[in-house]
Order: sequence, then structure tokens, then C-alpha cells
Amino acid sequence: MTANDLRRKYIEFFLSRNHKEIAGRSLIPENDPTVLFTTAGMHPLVPFILGEPHPAGKRLTDFQKCIRTGDIEAVGDPSHLTFFEMLGNWSLGDYFKKEAITMSYEFLTSPEWLGISPDIVSVTVFAGEADIPKDDESAGVWRSLGIPEERIYFLPRSDNWWGPAGETGPCGPDTEMFIDTGRKACGPDCRPGCSCGKYFEVWNDVFMEYNKQADGSYKKMDRRCVDTGMGIERTAAILQGKKSVYDIEVFRPIIAAIQQVSGKSYGSNEQIDMSVRIISDHVRASVFILGDENGIVPSNLGQGYILRRLIRRAIRHGRKLGIEGQFLKEPAKAVISIYKAVYPELERREAVILDELAKEEDRFLLTLRKGEAEFEKLLPNLLKNPQKIIPGRVAFRLYDTYGFPIEITEELARENGMTIDRKGFDEAFEKHQEISKAGAEKSFKGGLADNSEMVKRLHTATHLLHQALRRVLGTHVQQKGSNITAERLRFDFSHTAPMSPEEIKAVENMVNDQIAGDLPVSMSIMSLEEAQKDGALAFFGDKYSDQVKVYTMGDFSKEVCGGPHAEHTGELGRFVIQKEQSSSAGVRRIRAVLE
Ligand code: SER
Repeated sequence: MTANDLRRKYIEFFLSRNHKEIAGRSLIPENDPTVLFTTAGMHPLVPFILGEPHPAGKRLTDFQKCIRTGDIEAVGDPSHLTFFEMLGNWSLGDYFKKEAITMSYEFLTSPEWLGISPDIVSVTVFAGEADIPKDDESAGVWRSLGIPEERIYFLPRSDNWWGPAGETGPCGPDTEMFIDTGRKACGPDCRPGCSCGKYFEVWNDVFMEYNKQADGSYKKMDRRCVDTGMGIERTAAILQGKKSVYDIEVFRPIIAAIQQVSGKSYGSNEQIDMSVRIISDHVRASVFILGDENGIVPSNLGQGYILRRLIRRAIRHGRKLGIEGQFLKEPAKAVISIYKAVYPELERREAVILDELAKEEDRFLLTLRKGEAEFEKLLPNLLKNPQKIIPGRVAFRLYDTYGFPIEITEELARENGMTIDRKGFDEAFEKHQEISKAGAEKSFKGGLADNSEMVKRLHTATHLLHQALRRVLGTHVQQKGSNITAERLRFDFSHTAPMSPEEIKAVENMVNDQIAGDLPVSMSIMSLEEAQKDGALAFFGDKYSDQVKVYTMGDFSKEVCGGPHAEHTGELGRFVIQKEQSSSAGVRRIRAVLE
């Protein structure tokens, strides 16, 4: 069963269980500053788990592209990837543990669906702690389905608890499903959750049944939700009898392209194979980030920085394979051709993807050349050191000033019979990290979005701003991105020239007039077609499901959006544009606050 078959079967199964299919969303979360990338299928659904009605109903299913870079060092082992696809089904106040687990079990083991032998399925459930009881209910359901006691593991919070990312909010125990790959156990303590590769986690059913209070206590919720996530690559590996996600069919053409450009064959030498797998993963992730509807390009900040790290790490492993010049184009084209039928945005953005990869390769190769030249200059002096140790601060300066990766300094040192004071380097590096936390990745777990009043108000102000920009600058203005924190909103839109001070004032005044007018904010659910006929703004065409929510603010603004929003514009306060600047070619960025 290929990844494509699995994706189709999953959706088909949940459709047959009265779920509605909804479209997956962008990899770049909108209006959620708690994570840089969409890290789980549930992430775009957080507002609905928190209580917003979903236009498609209470039982949903979808597939979602995800990025997690928290385990980037483990990429290349049998189960870790930075980019992956997650299948999911949701109950928004509808079914709960019994139905969710029963459906999971049926889909996994029924010959009509995946047909995995029940004998190799193990599960984990929450063991309980001080004020939260053990999840006997889930364990009971597993038992009733025939999973024997010795394959039901009760594990603590670190394994079987989900959310909230912040201090308060919905959270609950989860139950995870593992498949025994048949590998030898790594020791007597080897169990599901062990990283040795014997057990593959394929599915996680999360039961949001508590609301964590500000005083740290847990309150049971009346409206309970289920959030499940099944990794496509891991499950496909199991179904194909493979011991590694890199052995499934989607990686074959990518690996072939890397073999072709490097002249190295895969499968003969573990070190070479590791580099090939890391390149495959990083190229696939980079193509999806560059090809996203809200496409990101390499930079030194936020998502752009992660993208840069992925591309540069791929290039470094390319050098390990003996590749000197540019080489990412062919593997990237392989990724696009495998996925374009399911993710048409990749084909639409193919030129941008290939161009940005080539530019980043050029930039990094230049950096490497400059760093190497600098190293050569320093070398005679360094060689005078009788211990043949390169001081950490010298290695750090190469890194900090020239962007020269420490691993390459180490390589050059080795070639010249020297070592690096790695401790000194790490100390200098940590100090630098503390100073420049800004570009760092914030959180890798599926953050529960900030749903505070301030965020709602800024979200409402964003709609007013969008409409005001269209009235003042023209209807060519389209939303290109939006990011809201509790302090400010940031809005990217298509417009080629910088705004004049008069234009900025006019937009600001127009938004403030709407706030003074205290317009009611109302929501209705309709099909996307109706919404567009009705004149609602909707710019992310392909990622909406059939039924959408349309938020209307008086006669002024009408826009398709997930919400949530303030109830009246009068609640917003005074709207102030703090900055207007370029974001990328043809895109301007506004930063604004509510005072
Ligand atoms: N949120 C859970 C996960 O990511 C289930 O979707 O594993």
C-alpha cells in the first residue's frame, strides 16, 4: 500500500463513519505566534477544539502537511523526519474514547482496511498522577477489543499527555498505537516509546477532557473533544514491511536523484546512507516550505531561518558525498513530481522553489569559500600552537562572522592535524544564543493557540485593515499572510510601492472610523461559492472545505475566516500603524497595535 493509497483509505474510512473531509492548511500557521510551523494535524483546528463551531460539523477528517524540527539530530534514523504528513479525525464535542479507539482499531486491523495483524499492536495509556486518575476507560476499551494486558502499557505524562502549550486550556490523556517491527528488543526495558526502532508509533488518539486552570488544577470539561494523528510515512513503512520510513516508495526517486548527482550508491556504506537520508529529508521539507501557499524564503529569522538551516545542512551532507557544486535541483524536482497531484501548490510554485534553492546554494557555497580563505589566512599562526588546538573563540568567529559551520572548521582542522577546543566554542555559542534568542524556534509541540481577548480584537482589526487597504490602495490588495501576538498584528499584502504617509494615515483613520462606529460582528456559515457570490474576501481558495464561515462587520467588511473575533468593533480601542515596510518582492508588511 503506497502513501497515496493510505491517504485515500483513511479519508474513505472516516467518511464512511459520518465524518466530513476538510482541506489541510498551510505549513505556516496564521494568527498563531506560538509555533513557527504547523506541527500536527490538530494545530489548525485548535480554535474549534476550544469551542468555535466548525462550519463542516462535529466529525472531521483530513490530511495535513507538518514540520517538526525538534528532533532534527535524529533525522536519518528509521523513524524521524522533519517533514511528514499527518492523517487525522476529530470529534468536536461528539464521540469520545470508546468510539474513537474502536474506530482506530478497526481501521488498523480490519482486512477491509489496513489489515495489520492485531498480534503486533501494542498500546500506551496514561498512568495517572496526583490529581488526575489513571485512564482506565481507554485501557478498558483496548481490553474489550482483544489487546492483551501485557501489550497495554501505562505511562506517565511525558508519554501520554497532550497540551496545553500555555499555562491554561484544554488538555488530556492520549493513547498511542505502536506496531512491533520484529526487530530485536534493545534491552529488558525496551517498550513502546523506546527510540531503538523496534516499536513504530503509528497513531495517537488524544482525549481533550480537562481544562487546566490558572491555579494549576484540572477541571473536567462538559464538551470533550478527540484529536487523532496518524503519520503517513511511518504507517506506510509498516504496511510495506519496511524497517525505515526512508524505504517507502516516496523516497525512492529522491534517493535515486541523489545517487545520480553524487555517483554514490545507496545501501552499501552506513555513513554514505545516512547522508543520503538526511539530504532526502531536508530537500523534501525545503520544497514543501518554499512551495507552501504562504511560501517562505531562506532568511535569518523565524521560519526562513529554519529553512536556511535545512538547505545548508543538506549541502553539507552533499559535500560529505563528494559533491562540490549545486546539486539540489534534481532531488527537488523528484519531490515535486511525487507530490504535485496531492499538493498542486508545489507545481504552481516550481520555478520559485528551484530558483530559491539554487540561490541559497550559491550563497552558502560563497560563504564556505570565504570561510576557507579566512581559515587559510589564520592557519600559519594556528599551527604555532604546540598542542595543535584551535581556540574556541577563533572557531566561533569563523562561525559568527563568516557563517562557517563548526563541522567544516573541524574538518579543516583535522586535515591539518589539529583539533578544536569544542568546549570553548560551545560556551561562546551559548552566550551568543542567549543574546539573539529572537531567531530561535520557539516550540515544537502542537501549541494551543492564544485565544485571549487581545488576540481576538487584533484579529478583528486585521479584517478592518484588510478592507481599508483595498479601499485606499485598490482592490489589487490581497492578504499574503497574517501573524498575531497578544501585543500586535502583522499583515502582509500584495502591493508594489511603499505607502505614502498620507495613505498610511487614510487607512488608519478608516479603521478607526469603523471602530468608532461600533459595528456588530456577525458570522454565518455557507458554501465557499455562496460566500464569494456574496462578495466575501477569500484568498486561500484551495484550502477551504465546502462550508466556510463568513465574518461580517457592518457594511464595511465581509471575509471568509475561521475566527474567533470580537463581538463589536467598538471593543477594539485605537488602531495605530507602527510600521509599513517591504516584506518580499511585491509584498508590503504592516505592523499595527490597538491602544
Ligand atoms: N495532536 C496529536 C499528535 O500530534 C494527535 O493529532 O500526535
